[in-house]
Amino acid sequence: MDTIEKTDTCIFNTYARIPTVFVKGEGSTLWDDKGNRYTDFLAGIAVASLGHCHPAVTKAIADQAATLVHVSNIFYTEPQAELARLLVEKSFADKVFFANSGAEANEAAIKLARRYFKEKGNPDRFKIITMTQSFHGRTMATLSATGQDKIKNGFSPLVEGFVHCPFNDLDALKSLTDDSVCAVMMECVQGEGGVVPVDPAYIKAVRQLCDEKGILLIFDEVQTGMGRCGTLFAHELFDVKPDIMTLAKALGNGLPIGAMLANEEAAKGFALGSHATTFGGTPLVTRAALCVLEIISQPDFLKEVREKGAYLKEKLTSLMANHPYIKAVRGEGLLVGMEIDGDAGEIVTQSMKKGFILNAIQGKVLRFAPPLVITREEIDSLVTALDGLLE
Ligand SMILES: Cc1ncc(COP(=O)(O)O)c(C=O)c1O
Repeated sequence: MDTIEKTDTCIFNTYARIPTVFVKGEGSTLWDDKGNRYTDFLAGIAVASLGHCHPAVTKAIADQAATLVHVSNIFYTEPQAELARLLVEKSFADKVFFANSGAEANEAAIKLARRYFKEKGNPDRFKIITMTQSFHGRTMATLSATGQDKIKNGFSPLVEGFVHCPFNDLDALKSLTDDSVCAVMMECVQGEGGVVPVDPAYIKAVRQLCDEKGILLIFDEVQTGMGRCGTLFAHELFDVKPDIMTLAKALGNGLPIGAMLANEEAAKGFALGSHATTFGGTPLVTRAALCVLEIISQPDFLKEVREKGAYLKEKLTSLMANHPYIKAVRGEGLLVGMEIDGDAGEIVTQSMKKGFILNAIQGKVLRFAPPLVITREEIDSLVTALDGLLE
């Protein structure tokens, strides 16, 4: 059996896979098993932000793999400690919990928000407001938090206590906030929902509302964080701080790591024994993530992301003049969506034939989330190819 047959025979059929087998990656380039070369405008869905097999990350992984891969979290290790210290230094947060994925980081955030109010003697305050079209993961609590029915289908009864509110609608949010709400949880740019950025005035008003009502504000930065939107964390674009933030995806540049960060006050929700995971924050993944964070957090690196993001958006927008079925181009930094009046999946298929990897979301949106090291020349080639394809 070849790779595709083995996969289709032995692995659950939960992914709509494209029949291509990748064997190698370097920077923004991927190669398949037939020797075809592709420029990657997806980066494993906003994961390989430093590009595939970045030499410094590869060295960090190799060195750490040869030194110490895992010990239990009942002991201390320096890579974990130093990554936490640097995340605290670079963010609003005072405390970090390490998990293994975005969903797990969000589980930790949900647990923290609920337990915070239990600890404060307010056990009836357990509801979490999330946004319609949001995506927070596939575990039972995070799919219950997710504002898309297709993610919940077949899994009832769901975890109770999640209320969905239209995104960017302050009046709707106000009408839902009462004494039973412990947190508002949202993305700064809805990724899976179709690359929909938050309204800057709205996000500020949400912070204000949460302050007035004593509600915790959770930003799910699993997709938008780690430089993707041109600042280390997307909320910096809006000059608003959350109480709790979650990270994953690009944090390990491909190694599985998630993190839940909280300010001192919100962090009071967890005490000894409140939460744990066997693999969270092992020396191997934290050493890799430390290397990633050191590179991505450099101001010059982030400036380049903003400039290249603006360049990509401008180039894609320029296609609108000749292609009327492009309805919108939107996003922040190098997380960009192009909404089309047509089948985005078909464009993904055709783009692959031309050597470009893209992704379609919600059927009608092309998502561009390339490695942050993508070059202007690579952007130019993609836009030229798209121009031809969209004919
Ligand atoms: C905003 C957001 N939150 C959470 C998740 C879930 O992350 P994971 O797939 O690592 O569990 C994703 C994944 O796409 C995401 O985009």
